[in-house]
Parts: sequence; C-alpha cells; structure tokens
Amino acid sequence: MPKTRRVYVDHSATTPADPRVVAAMLPYLTEKFGNASSVHGFGQEARAAVDRARREVATLIGARANEVVFVSGGTEANNLAIRGVCEAAEAHGRHIITSSIEHSSVRGICEALEKRGWEVTRLPVYEDGIVKVEDVSAALRPDTVLVSVMLANNEIGTIQPIEEIGELVRAEREKSGRKIWFHTDAVQAAGRLKLDVETLGCDLLSLSAHKLYAPKGTGALYARRGVRLAPQNLGGHQERERRAGTEGVPGIVAFGEAAKLAREEMGQRAAHEERLRNIFEKGVSERIADIVFNGDRDRRLSHVSNISFRFIEGEGLLISLDLQGIAVSTGSACSSGTLEPSPVIIALGRNDELARGAIRFSFGKDNTEADVDYVLEVLPRVVEKLRRLSPLNKDRKLEPVSVE
Ligand SMILES: Cc1ncc(COP(=O)(O)O)c(C=O)c1O
Repeated sequence: MPKTRRVYVDHSATTPADPRVVAAMLPYLTEKFGNASSVHGFGQEARAAVDRARREVATLIGARANEVVFVSGGTEANNLAIRGVCEAAEAHGRHIITSSIEHSSVRGICEALEKRGWEVTRLPVYEDGIVKVEDVSAALRPDTVLVSVMLANNEIGTIQPIEEIGELVRAEREKSGRKIWFHTDAVQAAGRLKLDVETLGCDLLSLSAHKLYAPKGTGALYARRGVRLAPQNLGGHQERERRAGTEGVPGIVAFGEAAKLAREEMGQRAAHEERLRNIFEKGVSERIADIVFNGDRDRRLSHVSNISFRFIEGEGLLISLDLQGIAVSTGSACSSGTLEPSPVIIALGRNDELARGAIRFSFGKDNTEADVDYVLEVLPRVVEKLRRLSPLNKDRKLEPVSVE
C-alpha cells in the first residue's frame, strides 16, 4: 500500500523545532547543563546563555532585556500578566476590559477573577473579527485597571488595532493619573509581524516559543519597567522575583535562537506563507461551493485561512483530512476535543452551522506549493463526500449562499 502523504497545515497550533534551534539548545542538555542560579562556572555558563536569549527575545519586540520574564509558555505569560497586574492593583479598582475572541487562557483567567468579584467587560467583534477602538474607549471606567486585547487572533488571524488601544490607555492614564495597564497576547503574532512595544504602546505582552519554531514549554512575558506584578509562582528569586523556579535553560536558549531567526527571516517567511495561502484560497473558491471565509481578509496574519464549509461538521472534515495525512484545526487546538462551536466564529455573528463547519488552515515556512496542491486535490473530494452523507445537506438547494 502506498504511504499516505503527510501535510501539516496547522502552524497556529504549533510549529516543528527548526534544526538550527535544536542545534543551539543541545549543548545545554548535555555538557553545559548548569543551573543558571549556581555560582560556579557551570552555573555562569548557563546564566550567560539565558542572558543572551533574553536579549534576543527583547530585540524581537523592541524591549529592554530586563523587561523580559521567562515562563513556561503563552498560557503562563497570560496568567502572570492578568492575575499579576490585577492582584497588585486591586486597591485601585476591580474592572477589566477584554475582547470576546481571546484565547482560552485569557478567557479562563477573566472568568476566575469574575468569581472573585472582579467585573469584566468583553468587547464585541464585528463580522470582520476586529475590536473597535471606540468600544474600548466607551468601556473605560474609573475602576478599570487592565485592558487585555490580543494582537492577532489564533483562529481567524485577525489583527487588532493595538497601537490605537495603546494610545487610548496611555492617554487615559495620563489624564486620570490612575494606574491602568494594557496587556496584549502576541503569541500568534510574534515572529510573523514586526513588533515594537513602544509603537504598540502596550505595558505587557505575552509570547510563546513553540509558535516560532522552538520547542514547547517556554514562553515570555514582557512587563514594562514600573508595572507591578504580583508573582504567581513563589519560591526562589529567579527572574527578578517575578517568576520563581529554576530556569529551563535549554528551552530558553532555543527560544532565543528562534527569536533571532524569526527576526532575520520574518519578511521572507511571511511572503512565502502568504503566497501559499493565496494559492490555496483561490483554489478552494474555484473548486468548492457554499463556503464562507471567516475574518477580515486584509487585516489578518498572512499564513491563516479560516473557512466555514456549509452543511458539514468541522470535526468530521478534520478527521477525514487526517485520514488523508492532512493536519488542520477546528477552532483553537486547545478546545478541540469538545464539540461546542467555536466561540470566535460565533462572535463574528455566524450561525451555529457555520461555526461548526469552520476549519483553520495555517501555513508554515517549510510548506511547499506541492503541499497546497495536495490539499486542493483532497479537500474538494472529502467535502463533497461528507456533504452527500450529511443530514444538514437537505437544506442545500433551498438556501444557496454565494461563495465569498
Ligand atoms: C493566542 C494564544 N495565546 C496563548 C496561547 C497559549 O500558549 P501556550 O501553548 O504556549 O501555553 C496560544 C496557543 O495556542 C494562543 O494561540
């Protein structure tokens, strides 16, 4: 039996470690294994490597090295940012503004704070999947201590007006003299968009290594000098008292190398991925009827395509594609396994059927045109087969929708 071709188009879920990144980290698993807090030479060697990686990550986002706190990933960065700021600023107010399309980690933290008496305003997005700055402005209250809006969405890739929100929060802080901070989850955007924390005007920014070709289990939080954070991990004095626990030196070294490569190669990666994504979207539009593209088609990350296929369940499509060796996602990877329709697609105002039929394709730097050709060969066949079997299909002739 011929071996099934395998095509990975789920780079928003995670990316493979780049061999150059693995090569950089390997010595820190073997001969350079020191604890970065140890005083001896082994420790100093590890400390120097962590410091170098910190500078690389800081450079990727235009920050100072001492504003970067290494953590275990994007989820922990979001926890430290939001809970850390809220717990430290509790005396000033207990109101948070966030959006309705945040990653489950931000959603979960906000729900937990709500149970502890905090008030949370969740801003809508519109059909384009983008928050309106006027809505942020209207939601600001004298007791608001934090605004948390993601930079780019993980399901549909839409890019939020972060600079404008940053400007608004800064103006509000200056006008009122109150402590009010702005956090952005940049896990999906980092390494794909040029980021500069000064231009963005954010006070806190979350990053995750495994979305930019480094291993899973490492992330970073940028916390602007002067922002007080209540530490969420207690213990040793690591990370300037902001995150206790022995630093994961190999993962941090890998993150530093990945950040450097992302900075150097960002333009060419984005151009390559966008080209593949455009070939893909044109091919899908020509070959498959009754589809709807989700999220603004211009203001989005260049590697993501989120499409609702009418009359079928996304989960069924995902499994059928997997059987043909093609890896995609329904909604966020973290929520697959549940059959609830994606809250992000629902937030766009789509109905249940379109939310359930949504699939995310996300291209990566190592995908090829042959990969896209293979997806374009398999996808129409699989969609047609599932549609023929689908009970939802009975409506098909009654309610035709145009292909966007
Ligand atoms: C936007 C966003 N934030 C946070 C996370 C969580 O990052 P991590 O997997 O490193 O915990 C993800 C992961 O999918 C994400 O897409």
